[in-house]
Amino acid sequence: MGAFFGANRFKFGMFGLNCAGGMTLSSAPERWRADWDEIAEVAKMADDAGVEFLLPIAKWHGLGGDADMWGRSFETFTQAAALGAITKNIGLFVTAHVSLLTPAFAAKAITTIDHVTHGRGGINIVCGWNPDEFDMHGVTIDPDLRYAKGLEWFRIYDKLLKGGGEFNWDGEFYKLRGLVTDPLPVQKPGPPVMSAAQSGDGQTFAAQAADILFSSMHSVDQVRDIVQRQQGLAAQYGRSTDVYVETQIVCRPTRKEAEDYAHYYAVEHADQGALDYFRRMKAGTLSKSTREANSVSDKAVLASVKPAERKYPGIFPGMYPLIGSPDDIVAELAKLEAIGVAGSALVFLNYLNEFPYFAQEVLPRMKRIGLRM
Ligand SMILES: Cc1cc2nc3c(=O)[nH]c(=O)nc-3n(C[C@H](O)[C@H](O)[C@H](O)COP(=O)(O)O)c2cc1C
Repeated sequence: MGAFFGANRFKFGMFGLNCAGGMTLSSAPERWRADWDEIAEVAKMADDAGVEFLLPIAKWHGLGGDADMWGRSFETFTQAAALGAITKNIGLFVTAHVSLLTPAFAAKAITTIDHVTHGRGGINIVCGWNPDEFDMHGVTIDPDLRYAKGLEWFRIYDKLLKGGGEFNWDGEFYKLRGLVTDPLPVQKPGPPVMSAAQSGDGQTFAAQAADILFSSMHSVDQVRDIVQRQQGLAAQYGRSTDVYVETQIVCRPTRKEAEDYAHYYAVEHADQGALDYFRRMKAGTLSKSTREANSVSDKAVLASVKPAERKYPGIFPGMYPLIGSPDDIVAELAKLEAIGVAGSALVFLNYLNEFPYFAQEVLPRMKRIGLRM
């Protein structure tokens, strides 16, 4: 697990390079276009800067509104293989919609990436939420069964990657014959598993299947709760699961400059139509634990799908905004580390314009306070 889990106390990844708009609900003209040459350039920069991983979004449909965020996107397995060929050390997650891939296909595809990159493949498992994306595949999402089905999918995938000979599977959702895959992955015990989810049900899934829970951050208290719950849940299964969160970085020499820029793109150019569409679709497929408001995080998800005034409507619900000078950003990241968050996938309005300043100013400060080597 070298690429993903090196010595840095706080890990970083780049989130959403493969999709137009990245993860920002903004129609600002300089927003991310997901141009291949720019994706490749940022991937190489992140690799050179020692960032741990690239994490794509699995998307089939845009959010409409003014900018149709995600309307253009690259497929994540094929993209990871291509980026693997032009980078040296960085970990390459794929993001897999479990209901669209058989476990045998995913096992072979991730192993292919792991071999061509000499052990840099990783899988982010997503169980899906937007019915409009799945209609084009003829697949229905059942929010009450998606994690049970996902867990069975994972068990088959995991067994395949462990080797040990051909087997049949006779489960609740899958009945499969002659399962086998060769070669096995380079990484042992296998490519790292991430699960992107925010509900209590999603946490229970991650506790059984994932090395990393990649979650939303609505507030510091909610994430403190997620970290504590996750440790407890994983321990019940004799495992441990790190928690990473998503952060939107607006870093400028002064706090005022950063706040002005965030105001420009996430207030003046906020894509309200896309936000409304997201909330409507998400509200239709809430997990049971969320509908029952079981955990602090479930309550936060429930609140996030209801129309409400937000300071920055262009920043995605669940994306934690870090807006300020390099010192401000480092102080916020240190707070996350102190409550037990192990890493963050980073988002910028335009990765190519903004990542170099982050790399130049924030990464060395993280080193100075001992959070990175
Ligand atoms: C940080 C984060 C990233 C996600 N990334 C994706 C993605 O790339 N594609 C997707 O279809 N769903 C994505 N999801 C949705 C989840 O996979 C999940 O299906 C959805 O959030 C509903 O489950 P939950 O209620 O447990 O969160 C993401 C969720 C979170 C919290």
